[in-house]
Amino acid sequence: MKNSLYFNIKVEEGIFDKIVAEQKSIGYYTLPEQDISYLLNYLEEFKSKNDYDAIKDIAIIGIGGSSLGPKAIFRALQGIRDFDKRLHLFESTDPASIRSTLNKLDIKNTHFFVISKSGTTIETISVYKYVISLLKTKDIPLDYRFTFVTDDGSKLEAHAKTFNSFVLHIPVNVGGRFSVLSAAGLAPLFLAGVDIQRLLDGALAIKQSFFEDGYIKETLLKKATYYAKNSMNYNINTLFAYSESLDSFTDWYVQLWGESLGKKQRHSSFNVGLTPVGLIGPKDQHSFLQLIVEGLRDKSVTVLKIENFDDKIKIPAITLKELEGLDLMNGIAFCDLINMQADSTIEALLDKKDIPIDTITLQHIDEENIGKLIYYYELLTSLVGQMMNVNTYDQPGVESGKKILEGKLLEERKNFPPKKGK
Ligand code: PA5
Repeated sequence: MKNSLYFNIKVEEGIFDKIVAEQKSIGYYTLPEQDISYLLNYLEEFKSKNDYDAIKDIAIIGIGGSSLGPKAIFRALQGIRDFDKRLHLFESTDPASIRSTLNKLDIKNTHFFVISKSGTTIETISVYKYVISLLKTKDIPLDYRFTFVTDDGSKLEAHAKTFNSFVLHIPVNVGGRFSVLSAAGLAPLFLAGVDIQRLLDGALAIKQSFFEDGYIKETLLKKATYYAKNSMNYNINTLFAYSESLDSFTDWYVQLWGESLGKKQRHSSFNVGLTPVGLIGPKDQHSFLQLIVEGLRDKSVTVLKIENFDDKIKIPAITLKELEGLDLMNGIAFCDLINMQADSTIEALLDKKDIPIDTITLQHIDEENIGKLIYYYELLTSLVGQMMNVNTYDQPGVESGKKILEGKLLEERKNFPPKKGK
């Protein structure tokens, strides 16, 4: 992983020590060195109860931190490899999306994951109810068809124990949006055929480099200082990923930054935040880039590049009548073209001299590098949160929306009591 920051910055003192101290109470820090034997046992038990090879579809019912992580990783790896199994996501109450996702499943051969840390999220439980009643209508046995991933002792776990199903836990001190390297992300990915040990190895390499004075320590401290300092003037960060396979990764990043950094500062009533925007090059180079280059100076840019793409297809060396002038592209590999486009974007921004720009280059897309990227962003978020003086790990704004929805459902129930059996 290579990094450059086109700004010189003096790192705020004491931040590293605060992160070291945080490790005692915040659980995600220790996930890279976890022993995955519990997941090996899970897979073995799974295979003893199900015909693993016959299962073609894996469906996650979950939202936010309980779905975006595994989706981001699977989507990135699909760009380099064909998997025997497909991964589907039920992460919305949009009826059209529920129906269209269901239509894609070979439902008799689908295994469902119900992932919810709290175990009571209305979006997740409502879709789960729909799926379970559909299976019953179709006389599809429920036995060992579900894996529940939730907090130890949650109501969802108690429910899971009322029939034959699998239950895995999210460590209590690991928050939703930081849970991708816990069972919440690892279990469905493992079942789908992802090498989860290599994901963790990648994360561990970043962790060691950060905590043991490697190059990542200096890089992350500088970058976090840069983002925290810019959060007032350049309070929008656009992450420009130059690979379509990272489109769900940018969604994960949007949640991680939005929910972790947008809040009231500790011991003050001052609201702060860094608005994350996920962009995909070259597509958004032909739309959003205009706004960055010539619009309000409120946006910093992070360009995420892939150094080596597996696919080396080239632009054919043919001449098209009337388009002879464009023969200069002949024989160029698309992987080189996309990186030239990324470099052109960087140059266009640097030319302006007043747009903060940061780059990250992943050597390649594979489990190890994605593990690195995930953990790198988690550490960066923790550091920026410390520097912005917010509680990175709570989400009172999201909780307030959840409570209001509960109130609305209660009101609806009072006005329209359900008919028996419906
Ligand atoms: O990061 C978070 O805490 C949230 O985004 C949660 O992941 C999201 O609200 C879903 O919650 P739960 O996993 O409890 O269903």
